[in-house]
Amino acid sequence: MRDRIVRAVTDRFAGDSGGHDADHTFRVVRNALRIWEVEGGNRDMVELAAMLHDVDDRKLFGGDPDECAFARSVMGDDFDEPFKDAVCSIIRNISFKGTDTKVPDSLEGRIVQDADRLDAIGAIGIARAFAYGGSKGRKMYDPLDKPKEGMGENEYFANTGTTVNHFYEKLLLLKDLMNTDEGRSMAQHRHDIMESFLKEFYDEWGL
Ligand code: ADP
Ligand code: NI
Repeated sequence: MRDRIVRAVTDRFAGDSGGHDADHTFRVVRNALRIWEVEGGNRDMVELAAMLHDVDDRKLFGGDPDECAFARSVMGDDFDEPFKDAVCSIIRNISFKGTDTKVPDSLEGRIVQDADRLDAIGAIGIARAFAYGGSKGRKMYDPLDKPKEGMGENEYFANTGTTVNHFYEKLLLLKDLMNTDEGRSMAQHRHDIMESFLKEFYDEWGL
């Protein structure tokens, strides 16, 4: 059953180079299980929600995450309805949406949200941000284009600013939004890496 889900996820993301490939998902699973070891909760739910957290993403697949269609079809008959509903509720609520971001109401959801955020920061987070920005034809940096503060969901998703701005609009905010103690302590080091990266970036730019 686990192999089947890994295969379905791998196929779903085949061809993505914008930082949302299956490897992102597998790193999120690893982060999530590490946090689960400290924080507890339902292990199967943490693992499955992490595995399926991006398979219905609107940006990637144009579907409606609220319907959770792909995730439900992958879970099939291997899980009962309440379990599938709980996984879908996690998937629906973990995404960053600016000031409209939600804190998931279950421990398992808070763990998976932290695990996803950890992969958006640190060295891999930096690489993913530039990969994503490049895939959308965005500039890396423009000293005249200032980051926007306090964006809500619609404004955040309509935003087409530079990748460096994305650090101020999301990545550097995540450390203080972590839900779990273990997630927070993992986030601190990755946050420091981004701060050093930006300092070096501005130096090399000649600012
Ligand atoms: P989430 O996992 O919270 O749903 P997203 O799907 O929005 O996050 O983002 C996935 C990856 O793409 C993250 O690493 C994120 O930082 C990056 N990304 C999203 N929007 C941008 C952007 N405007 N510029 C650069 N990178 C972005
Ligand atoms: Ni993700």
